[in-house]
This record gives sequence, structure tokens and C-alpha cells, in this order.
Amino acid sequence: MKQLIDKLKTEHRLTKEEWITLIENRTPELADYLFVQAREIRHKYYGRDVYIRGLIEFTNYCKNDCFYCGIRKSNGNIPRYRLDEDTILSCCRSGYDMGFRTFVLQGGEDGYYTDERMTHLIHRIKTSFPDCAITLSIGEKPYDSYLEYYNAGADRYLLRHETFNETHYRTLHPPQLSASNRQQCLWNLKEIGYQTGTGFMVGSPHQTAEHLAEDMLFIEKLQPHMVGIGPFIPHHDTVFAGEKAGTLELTLYMLGLLRLMLPKVLLPATTALGTIDTHGRELGILAGANVVMPNLSPRDNRKNYSLYDNKIATGEEAAEGKAKLIRQMESIGYHVVTARGDSLMDV
Ligand code: 5AD
Repeated sequence: MKQLIDKLKTEHRLTKEEWITLIENRTPELADYLFVQAREIRHKYYGRDVYIRGLIEFTNYCKNDCFYCGIRKSNGNIPRYRLDEDTILSCCRSGYDMGFRTFVLQGGEDGYYTDERMTHLIHRIKTSFPDCAITLSIGEKPYDSYLEYYNAGADRYLLRHETFNETHYRTLHPPQLSASNRQQCLWNLKEIGYQTGTGFMVGSPHQTAEHLAEDMLFIEKLQPHMVGIGPFIPHHDTVFAGEKAGTLELTLYMLGLLRLMLPKVLLPATTALGTIDTHGRELGILAGANVVMPNLSPRDNRKNYSLYDNKIATGEEAAEGKAKLIRQMESIGYHVVTARGDSLMDV
């Protein structure tokens, strides 16, 4: 097994069978070996810096009905909200003053936010904060919409492929959605010139080691700038309310493997990872991650952006969250930095 990890570290690719073997035969000892290698690579390219992104969850309206997601359209139990442009700008302002140089606009697929409203918003943020990067995370759109947002000043786009396998994809989503369309969106984003992020949930219902192997092969082919992964966590108002959550252990292992496959990738220790374990985000960094995305949304809206149960930081001020994060990172020997934190992939 260690030889497979060494091979991944030098060749940055494995066959499907090798991926399955490495995933199915993992042990705590092997994981520790992997994390040492992953940290070595991480330190080589990114030192001990941790990049921060200010996450602004600007709408929880969504036209989709994904079986796992708490803001799915058929969930009638959450109050819906959308932030207006001025509110979003003031989130950016307070974030900027705290040292954030990337703003991530994340939302459900909300018809109110037309291309016209999005480009207006992007343009306004870009003019107010010219030294900041804008990341969008607003789902599947036509090519021309992606192009318009890019021309308005958006720099990056996050769209997790969720799972590569078409059959598995269909067990997680209603029939209108397909893995192939999702993947096409990612190719389009890359072609337009976005720093593009994909990703998947770890331990989603019916997921097998083979599915994870296919995810790794897809990511190897896509060569994204960022990969966001986190454990699946059930939400009580969804189809998957009674399903088991993904584990901390497997998520950390996949993070380590991603770091070795894509040495320069931007790899967040996600909110979901911090939710299943109090030290999840620190452990994520120690497994090879180099990004954290604290929440800048207004406090009162946060509880309603409930993708899954018990999501962290719902009651805290953004500034408290950042102070806590700085302490957590310092405690493991890493430093939160004020920088855009662009991907090194294209340099
Ligand atoms: N558990 C974990 N992650 C989830 N997401 C949505 N619902 C859940 C859940 N129940 C993730 C999806 C999506 C991202 C914004 O949040 O992967 O792409």
C-alpha cells in the first residue's frame, strides 16, 4: 500500500484498480504515512499559509430538489431569504476590514438572481474591492451566463461534480439533473478561464470505493484549481434524513490523496468537516488542506442556509469566527494570511 502512495506522489496518477485498492485497504497507519507525504507537498508549494475565503450565502431559494440538501425546493420548513445588493456589499466591506481578499457568493439556484442582477452585483463588488477575487457558487448555468459573469469580473467558480458515476448521481438527484450536464458545466467554466473548483461528498448514500475511484479519475482529467470535499451529513427534512453520515476518517484520507494527485490544488478544510468533528478543520489542514472558508453572512440568515444538520458557526459573529480560526490554525503551527490566494496551477 505504501508503494501505491509513493507512486501517486511521484506520478500523480493511479489506475482505477489502484485507487480502489488504496481506498479499500486503508489503515490508520497507512493514513498517517499518507498525511506526512501530503504535508510535505503542501509545505513545498504553500508553506504553512492558510488562505481564507469569506463565504456569503446570499440566497437559500433553490429550484432544485437534490435528495441530500436541506435547501431543496420541497423543504417547506425553512424560512427562505435572499440578501439584497447593499447587504451583500456590506458583508464584503466588513470582510475586507477583517483581512478577507476573496469573497465567495454562494446560493441556491434562485431565479430572482437573473444574469442581469448577478453581473450588476459582480461589477459592483469588483469596483469597490479591486484587489479581491470573486468566487461564484450558484450552480448549473448556460455557457453564456458563465461567460457574462466572467466578463463582469468573476474570477473563480465552485461547482462540485458531487459524484462522477451517472447511476450513483441519479440516486442522489431528481431525474432532471444529470452527472454529464454537471461535468459539462465544469469543462465550460475551465474553457472560459475561471479558476475552477469541483468536489464531492464523502460517504453519500450508496457510495462505494469504486465511485470514489471514478471521482479521482475525473478530477485527474479535469485538473481543477480547487477541490472541495466534505462528509455527507443528513438533514432532517430531506429524503436522506435517516442515512448515515460520512466519516471524518475517510474524508481526511481523501484529502491526503487529493494533495498527492494535484500538488498545487487549493484544498479547503470544509465547514462540513468542521461540523462532524470539533477539530475537523485542523485535522483537514494536517491532512494536506490549505484553505478555510469562514462565514460572512449576516448572523440571522445563517441558520436558514441549512444544507445539513448542526452546521457550525450559525450563532457567531464573523469576527469571532475569524479570531477562533486564527487560534485553531496557530495551535497546529499554521498561519492565516491576508491574500487573494490564487491557485499556483497556471503559473
Ligand atoms: N451534507 C454534506 N454536504 C452537503 N452539500 C449539500 N447538502 C449536503 C449534505 N447534506 C454540499 C454539496 C454542495 C455543497 C454546496 O454542499 O456537495 O455542492
